[in-house]
Amino acid sequence: MNRQDKIAPSILSADFARLGDEVARVERAGADMIHFDVMDGHFVPNISIGVPVLESLRKVTKLPLDAHLMIENPERYVEVFVKAGANSVSVHAEVCNDIPAMAKRLHDLGARASIGINPETDVQRVLPFAEHLDMILIMSVHPGFGGQEFIPEAFEKLRAVRRELDRRGLKVDIEIDGGVKLANIADVKAAGANVFVSGSGIFGYPDYTKIVDEMRELIAHTPVRD
Ligand code: DX5
Ligand code: ZN
Repeated sequence: MNRQDKIAPSILSADFARLGDEVARVERAGADMIHFDVMDGHFVPNISIGVPVLESLRKVTKLPLDAHLMIENPERYVEVFVKAGANSVSVHAEVCNDIPAMAKRLHDLGARASIGINPETDVQRVLPFAEHLDMILIMSVHPGFGGQEFIPEAFEKLRAVRRELDRRGLKVDIEIDGGVKLANIADVKAAGANVFVSGSGIFGYPDYTKIVDEMRELIAHTPVRD
């Protein structure tokens, strides 16, 4: 089943003092969406950015904003993020006890619904609800910080999710997040991901256009493999 490949720079690794400019630069570089990491200091041991920043970015980019909520009690906050301009919202399975209800809530608000799973969370926590979702987010690092190493066990998870979605004929996007860079993006594509989040793998280099072009080239020439 063909899913559209999308490159999603994670602005967690951008220069926050020049955030609008950084977003404009990755937009010009050909990024498909902007990955926006929200951390609350409870679900993860770090605090990042929230609603006012997303609202400001909404005014300066046409790209879809992909809000990744690494927060407890996500049901309290999804509405404000969508109203601020998030096009897709990922809520973590570890803090969501009614995934179909959360998906419906997001759809009613007009956003795409996604559920994320941490490295230690089994894919079975989300797969039974796949028909309610637009995207499944697989964490390939322990969430909380940019610039970590890709955890190789994520490859098997990607394959398991992709096989099961294909078996059921579901065109749900498969997003991979954490440690994705030029050196491994082809392997990540081969395993089944089609939405590629990359923070330090893009913002850590001076020429964003060159990196995004090279990533796209690698993705385009790599088939999904069993
Ligand atoms: C990690 C965040 C990621 C992170 C990715 O908690 O969810 O989106 O910014 O950054 P890199 O690509 O540097 O691992
Ligand atoms: Zn993220």
